[in-house]
Amino acid sequence: MRQKIVAGNWKMNCTIPDGIELIQDLIDTKQSTNNCQVVIAPPFMLLEKAGTLCKGKTMKIAAQNCAAWEKGAYTGEVSAAMIQSTGAEYVIIGHSERRSYFAESAEVLKSKVDITLNQSLLPIFCIGETLEEREEEEHFKVIKEQLEASLFHLSNKMIKKVVVAYEPVWAIGTGKTASTETAQEMHAYIRSLLTEKYNVETAESISILYGGSCKPGNAKELFSQKDIDGGLIGGASLTAQDFNAIINAI
Ligand code: PGA
Repeated sequence: MRQKIVAGNWKMNCTIPDGIELIQDLIDTKQSTNNCQVVIAPPFMLLEKAGTLCKGKTMKIAAQNCAAWEKGAYTGEVSAAMIQSTGAEYVIIGHSERRSYFAESAEVLKSKVDITLNQSLLPIFCIGETLEEREEEEHFKVIKEQLEASLFHLSNKMIKKVVVAYEPVWAIGTGKTASTETAQEMHAYIRSLLTEKYNVETAESISILYGGSCKPGNAKELFSQKDIDGGLIGGASLTAQDFNAIINAI
């Protein structure tokens, strides 16, 4: 059975004291984590503390990004080895905000995927089309290209370590969620591409998360879809109440 995952992407929010309070709130509240892996992705400077606070708990930690190089003279960058040393287990790669504001190319993202896996970290790889691409009916083509360019070089063994997050750019932080039909249609398409490239067993084992204005009010319906294995949550992961409600919707 595929792993259900609810991951909270905090983005550039929370100072250290705010972050500790939020982690503590999440630990203190009862989540019905039956069969659901909960992951939080705080900013870099909170990773180590999050690792310590979550030690022995079921909640796992993710970084929001990592450098495309192993180490060296890359001022301001954070390497996969550094992330691993904090106790984090996942890295979000290719978020649309990284692709657009920081001009991260498919080639750079491919390196990040490799470096993350080499460090025994698990990539949460984001893909998604813009509104313009959807209106021009290019969305399937865009998703296929994003997968081919940065993930499909992986072996059958390595692709199974990747979590895919489908996040239509027009739904991120806009309050506009994809309808369940639209989301399910794309998730099924992504799984069909994985089947074509690898095989049914591999495709059936990879978790595909939905992201983009996922909230307590719409999570249950989204998560009930056959190919939606959980969510990557932005805004609603910043309060324990909303995040827990989403986790409990699985
Ligand atoms: P949102 O963000 O839930 O605030 O739309 C999701 C994401 O960017 O991962």
